[in-house]
Amino acid sequence: MEHRFNERVTDLKIPGTRQFSNKVSEYDNGINLTLGQSGFDAPDFIRQAMTEVIDDGKLRYTHNKGLIELRRAIADYTKKRFSVSYDPETEIIVTNGGSEAIDSVFRAIVAPGDEVIIPAPAYAGYEPIIHLLGAKAVYVDTTKTHFVPTKAAIEAAITDRTKAVLFNYPSNPTGTTMTQAQIAELVSLLKDKDIFIITDEIYSENVYSGKHHSFMEFPEVRDQLFVINGLSKSHAITGARIGYILAPPFATEQVTKVHLYNTICAATPSQYGAIAALTHPETPAMLEKMNRAYIERRDYLYKRLTEMGLPVELPTGAFYILPDISAYNKDSFQFATDLLEAEQVAVVPGAAFTPYGEGHIRLSFASTMEEIEEGCARLERFLRNCITKSN
Ligand SMILES: Cc1ncc(COP(=O)(O)O)c(C=O)c1O
Repeated sequence: MEHRFNERVTDLKIPGTRQFSNKVSEYDNGINLTLGQSGFDAPDFIRQAMTEVIDDGKLRYTHNKGLIELRRAIADYTKKRFSVSYDPETEIIVTNGGSEAIDSVFRAIVAPGDEVIIPAPAYAGYEPIIHLLGAKAVYVDTTKTHFVPTKAAIEAAITDRTKAVLFNYPSNPTGTTMTQAQIAELVSLLKDKDIFIITDEIYSENVYSGKHHSFMEFPEVRDQLFVINGLSKSHAITGARIGYILAPPFATEQVTKVHLYNTICAATPSQYGAIAALTHPETPAMLEKMNRAYIERRDYLYKRLTEMGLPVELPTGAFYILPDISAYNKDSFQFATDLLEAEQVAVVPGAAFTPYGEGHIRLSFASTMEEIEEGCARLERFLRNCITKSN
């Protein structure tokens, strides 16, 4: 019967990020450093806002683009954070997580034969959608430029089939951010070209030095720009499934059709939770508290990995670090498998994040400090044993 399925679907593989966390849960003493979400509990005031509306029976559909109160809260947040105005009536769509935002934007713009340029290593959630649409992800290597794409590298990848360039900063899996000057360079290349810019800024609240900068700050690309964001990572509510898209009215009009035929609207209680998340007076202190903890864990991990002799960039955002393990094993999947079997520590092989992630492993500092300390001790022992074995 398999031949009856869409070949573009049967081609797809289950993401490499999940495999190791599933396996480590089978061990009593397992340490899971694969987390792609905050280890903090969802704040009380968000949970309360959600349960209150359920108790009040507010379980009907909302506007396709989301509750207007939520779109206003997103517009206010965007204005405060980036000094940029997006009209809540015509330029904002609330989606089922950042994932649906990515899917809806791609489906609104990408046609068979198109190419989408993506700096890599990259999040594993983009290529499958591009593939389902009969288009091609064109990866640009950032491993020699501190995981930041240069103007020259993006320019060299542009062809007459290029439909869009996607940037994800802060980045999963590299933890890298882009400075305003680096974004300005890319803007100077892409402005006035018939190419869309998609920026996935789902980690924009998780930035550890200075301020997060966005393509939004450059009005010259506003008409070609889709900004994807959401509350999953920042507010520790991955299960609420709240994301959103900012785009000019003519683009929002097209994306709204894809979104509404797919899902009608985001879940109503989650939308009320998101209003609380964006407007509650306790939110800034909560975000600061989580970021302080991530910085402490990042600093510890960076120091320990460096002491172990692994080449590694200091992450400036998100909650991931991507050390180079190629001196031990060029095959990151094998490295992660051996580490799990020998020491019961789960990490994600870099190859899960495009071939440019090969030779690396991704560790998450959303895990607790205790897990990180123990994970590092075991990783260090594993590396020592690798050296002993090869001598
Ligand atoms: C870069 C990136 N974009 C989007 C998502 C999806 O976010 P959501 O849980 O809001 O769908 C993730 C989740 O890991 C991610 O890392």
